[in-house]
Amino acid sequence: MADSKTLKVLPSDITEAVRRDLPDVVEWESFDKNMVLGRVREIELRQTTADDVDFLWDTFRISMKDYITQTRGEWNEQREESQFRHQLDLSAAHVIRSNNLEVGFIMAPIKDGARWIHTICIVPEHQRKGIGTEVLRRAVAQAREQKISLYLSVLKVNPARRLYERLGFGVIEETKHHFRMKFHGASASEAGVG
Ligand SMILES: CC(C)(COP(=O)(O)OP(=O)(O)OC[C@H]1O[C@@H](n2cnc3c(N)ncnc32)[C@H](O)[C@@H]1OP(=O)(O)O)[C@@H](O)C(=O)NCCC(=O)NCCS
Repeated sequence: MADSKTLKVLPSDITEAVRRDLPDVVEWESFDKNMVLGRVREIELRQTTADDVDFLWDTFRISMKDYITQTRGEWNEQREESQFRHQLDLSAAHVIRSNNLEVGFIMAPIKDGARWIHTICIVPEHQRKGIGTEVLRRAVAQAREQKISLYLSVLKVNPARRLYERLGFGVIEETKHHFRMKFHGASASEAGVG
């Protein structure tokens, strides 16, 4: 039986605001409190297959559409989809699973002896819960282990740049619409790697 300090809740009852600032007195009967809080999260990467292509495109479309529209001044779905499918390298792409849900993907091929994070996208309802940070930390750790450089490119309008800087990436080049960034490792301890 629930007493005055125990709430019985379902994941669908939890708003983002509550999730971010839950009082400690709350106890969870129905499921793991830490899972709801996002403190303990199982994150797995699964190699993509041809069956994932529609999910990858949908994830890219819903998560990048605003930034691409702001950058280009328009969204041409046909052109974007054809470019996305053309650039897709399934051998270098992984679906990101969090607590057994497929929440996004990362495509990070090796090019000219360096790792390039070509694309990382998390579906909007799972963004800003620490998943991208964890996946990027793993990419950093892997690049360090392999002793190769790690680069990415981010649209200037995209606030993800702040996340990359926090993890130790710095801008090395600028084009009209993009910042090209390299992992310098300056904040490696903050990034939890090394
Ligand atoms: C960028 C992305 C992969 C990060 O993954 P995530 O799981 O959301 O990241 P985390 O929760 O670990 O970190 C979130 C941080 O990223 C930055 N950020 C990401 N999206 C943001 C947004 N819409 N507004 C403001 N800051 C944002 C912030 O620094 C944020 O930190 P904060 O929540 O403390 O302010 C994800 O937000 C995403 O898919 N965004 C849309 C697609 C995209 O921009 N991909 C990157 C292309 S280079």
